[in-house]
Amino acid sequence: MLDIKFTEAKTLKEKPADETKLGFGKIFTDYMFVMNYDKGQGWHDPRIEPYHPFEIAPGCVVLHYAQEVFEGLKAYRTKENVIQLFRPDCNAERMQDSCERLCIPKVPKDDFIQAVKALVEVEKDWVPHSEGASLYIRPFVFASMEQLGVHASTSYIFCIILSPSGAYYSTGLAPVRIYVEDEYIRSAPGLTGFAKCGGNYAASIKSGELAEELGYSQVLWLDGVEHKYVEEVGSMNIFFKIDGKIYTAPCVGTVLPGVTRRSIIELCRDWGYEVIEEKIAIADIMKAGHEGRLEEVFGSGTAAVVSPVKELKYMDDTIIIGDGNIGSFTQRLYDTMTGMQWGKIRDAKGWIVPVCQG
Ligand code: COI
Repeated sequence: MLDIKFTEAKTLKEKPADETKLGFGKIFTDYMFVMNYDKGQGWHDPRIEPYHPFEIAPGCVVLHYAQEVFEGLKAYRTKENVIQLFRPDCNAERMQDSCERLCIPKVPKDDFIQAVKALVEVEKDWVPHSEGASLYIRPFVFASMEQLGVHASTSYIFCIILSPSGAYYSTGLAPVRIYVEDEYIRSAPGLTGFAKCGGNYAASIKSGELAEELGYSQVLWLDGVEHKYVEEVGSMNIFFKIDGKIYTAPCVGTVLPGVTRRSIIELCRDWGYEVIEEKIAIADIMKAGHEGRLEEVFGSGTAAVVSPVKELKYMDDTIIIGDGNIGSFTQRLYDTMTGMQWGKIRDAKGWIVPVCQG
């Protein structure tokens, strides 16, 4: 159990007046959680203090070699004013797996969950009240030692910041257009694809910017060896409903094991759908699209929730999915996931973790 020290802020920020205009990850709350690691001492000095910039050395490892991992989860406000989390244990576990890959000392699972709950409770007034908005929680660990040799740091900072946020895409639940990246890759076997580390996202920015210039929301990555099989989208995992069956890429090291992804797979199986977690070629998806067998495509992620896809562009081929509107299956998943998260439907899965009364 952490003994978390609290330092009170001298002044508090104005809360956003219009929750419909929050956007994603633009505003930060009054406090943050911080804990240090030093070799020989372990994790120490857990504290909640006013949100402030870090003072780090220009020679700090993270600035040069990106030794860093992060997580993303959300706090939701129910109609009864309960503030709750969705499967924080999965985020705690995944962060440990990411730490292991990046040679970062693991934050104990219970400490991760305790720190998230403690900070959310302090900042409960920041959890939005309006439909579809929530408090995005961003835990991260970075290497803080000054050193230019390429070696693991011996000191780290674990921090959690909070950002009241609306939909990840500016279009809200409106279906997005996706560009299939056939040149650059995000990962390959043996690399860091399964870890949630900043480096994966840094390498993805170029393709994302190019896709945006062409009017697409994000890119769909293909496997790094053959450039043939679909893996994931910029900020979400991806699912295809073909001939009544649900397909998604397997999490075999190159794909991020999304918490929303695994929850959706469980829900689909509970509902009696066959879910196939196997390699699926982009050529087969495009073919199914042209033959009218590709019923729905959607992305999943903490930030994106369940996000319908209306168009896929692969080289000089384009397919429009369904009639371009959100499909009924995607809508059902979105309603079920958000229903549980916002406490509108019963949590039969035991996924919800209440934090406090809001
Ligand atoms: C999340 O869904 O929490 C993510 O981390 C995606 C992010 C890169 C926006």
